[in-house]
Amino acid sequence: VSIQKLSHAHLRVDDLDQALEFHTDVLGLTQLAREGNTVFLGCGLDNNYDVALTPGGTGLAQMAFDVTSSEDLDRYGQRLAAAGVEVERRGDAEPGVDQALRFNLPSGHVMELVVLSEPVDYQRVHAPVTPRHGVAPLDADHITLQVPPPVSRPLVEFLRGTLDFHISDIFEPEPGLWAAAWTRTSDQHHDLAWIPPSPEAERATLHHFAWRLDGIEDMKRGADRLSTAGIPIEVGPGRHGAGSNLFTYFRAPGGNRYEFSAEMARTTNRAAEPSMISGPEFPRAFSAWGQVPPESFAIGS
Ligand SMILES: [Fe+2]
Repeated sequence: VSIQKLSHAHLRVDDLDQALEFHTDVLGLTQLAREGNTVFLGCGLDNNYDVALTPGGTGLAQMAFDVTSSEDLDRYGQRLAAAGVEVERRGDAEPGVDQALRFNLPSGHVMELVVLSEPVDYQRVHAPVTPRHGVAPLDADHITLQVPPPVSRPLVEFLRGTLDFHISDIFEPEPGLWAAAWTRTSDQHHDLAWIPPSPEAERATLHHFAWRLDGIEDMKRGADRLSTAGIPIEVGPGRHGAGSNLFTYFRAPGGNRYEFSAEMARTTNRAAEPSMISGPEFPRAFSAWGQVPPESFAIGS
């Protein structure tokens, strides 16, 4: 069986106390565990954590995708080794994680494939009617990372060839140059997306971490919660062209850009081939409604 979906991310935060207050009081996440300085938080619809926060800077420390068995870990471990990638097999190193396979992507980002102690076979796409606290996202939805265009094509081909990712859309501003790509392991349009970094970025960085919300009403409620907490929206609400999901972006306390995302397109053809987006089409890929991202949007987390 191939990789299932995004499981969780470890994010660095510049102020753990402020970040924790935001994640519990405003987002409404549940603290599931704390190990040293690392706090594990979940949306609460299952017992698995969605984000772990560690003090010290900003950005992505690692991200994990679910697989269903240790045989899957064996197989991907062999494939990665054959591709010359160093892998580390770990036991129950983290709350709710039975086994993990850790490695570096060609972009330098740390990735894990994990077998969860309490895997979830079916996922809610609608919020429960029981009283909810805060914004109450449904799940970790996707991650968007920034890599320079010379890296992105071999990286995306590596994801497809070694880890069975599918490519949904490719932004090809000139022939052969893959400047951005939206890739998936699940049935949604993208679980992991790649966009170019701002010119001043020295390393591959996190652009944003996205939370799945239950539709536009929850996005409005989320925007109002942000407003009450004094957190400005960077851009949104709007609808992306690539993935057709509703979006609202902001900088969360702790220093990372978050997205509220809803209604992302689902594929009915798991083997669907990539669609190519040309230069002139790119503004519509960002916003089907014609919005233009502010200059700040080029800067990573
Ligand atoms: Fe996104």
